[in-house]
Amino acid sequence: MSAPLAGRADVEDAIAGICSDRASEIPEPVRSAVNYALTSGGKRLRGLLVIAAYRAAGGKGDASGLAAAVEVIHAYSLVHDDLPCMDDDDMRRGRPSTHRVFGVPAATAAGAVMIPLAAWAAHRSAVGLRLPSDACCTIVKVLMQGAGAGGMIGGQLLDLMAEGRELSRDELDAVHAAKTGALIASSVEIGGVAAQISGPGFDALGSYGNRIGLAFQIMDDVLDVTSSTDKLGKIAGRDAALNKSTYPALLGVEGAVERANNLIDEACTDLRSQNLLSPELEGLARFIVSRSH
Ligand code: IPE
Ligand code: IPE
Ligand code: MG
Ligand code: MG
Ligand code: MG
Repeated sequence: MSAPLAGRADVEDAIAGICSDRASEIPEPVRSAVNYALTSGGKRLRGLLVIAAYRAAGGKGDASGLAAAVEVIHAYSLVHDDLPCMDDDDMRRGRPSTHRVFGVPAATAAGAVMIPLAAWAAHRSAVGLRLPSDACCTIVKVLMQGAGAGGMIGGQLLDLMAEGRELSRDELDAVHAAKTGALIASSVEIGGVAAQISGPGFDALGSYGNRIGLAFQIMDDVLDVTSSTDKLGKIAGRDAALNKSTYPALLGVEGAVERANNLIDEACTDLRSQNLLSPELEGLARFIVSRSH
């Protein structure tokens, strides 16, 4: 495992805690599908960003529960993204995708169950950190906004509507910033809210989150072309098969990587100017462009 992802075990433990605390109220087979989707590995980048932002902004408690809440939303987004009515993908995180194991109805319901589960987990963790009640509410709000119509799910709809069309760079920026950038930005902001930072420091965290979030999806598009199914744990080459608009198609692989690198540099500059660029936040940002999966 590369160093930037070294804190994953804490996030995994917190996710396992959410599963064991709430699983009994979910009927089978949806319960098993939720469990499968949540404990299937993944880089846990968004969770690590919550913790790193929290620490960089001065937080001293245990933010792993907040990290897990964000990962629950992300895992739901992947379950639905793979459904036949979306990207119709058979493999995820090196295993059959959730609907391939449990069927489409159970996978669809599992994704839906995970949304309130994440909101509950975020609120419980915020209360556990003894944050004032307005900060607890803000954390849930930021998570739901990142997942919502102006964020992840809105971007997913734009992505589907764009299949078979050639988007301009501005249009593609808007799709990618929404479907992937928004939840990544929310992760960083949640760390900031939990550490009770405000003003220019909080704004710099948001700006960093948006820039690395867009860079993340640019590199996801690049890896779909340049990496392998084995390394990715998901089937390579799907974007071309689905006629998606992508950055490598628009700018070439080199141009896309250069754009992603520029965004990462800008993101780090934003934080440095506020004395918030911790080695963890810089390492996670650089990992986004150096990763092979
Ligand atoms: C994949 O995200 C979906 C996108 C938003 C591009 P990740 O590459 O972070 O997936 P995991 O969590 O590591 O499996
Ligand atoms: C998915 O983008 C973004 C999500 C919100 C899940 P992709 O469709 O490119 O993600 P992968 O490549 O299937 O992981
Ligand atoms: Mg998709
Ligand atoms: Mg997909
Ligand atoms: Mg992709």
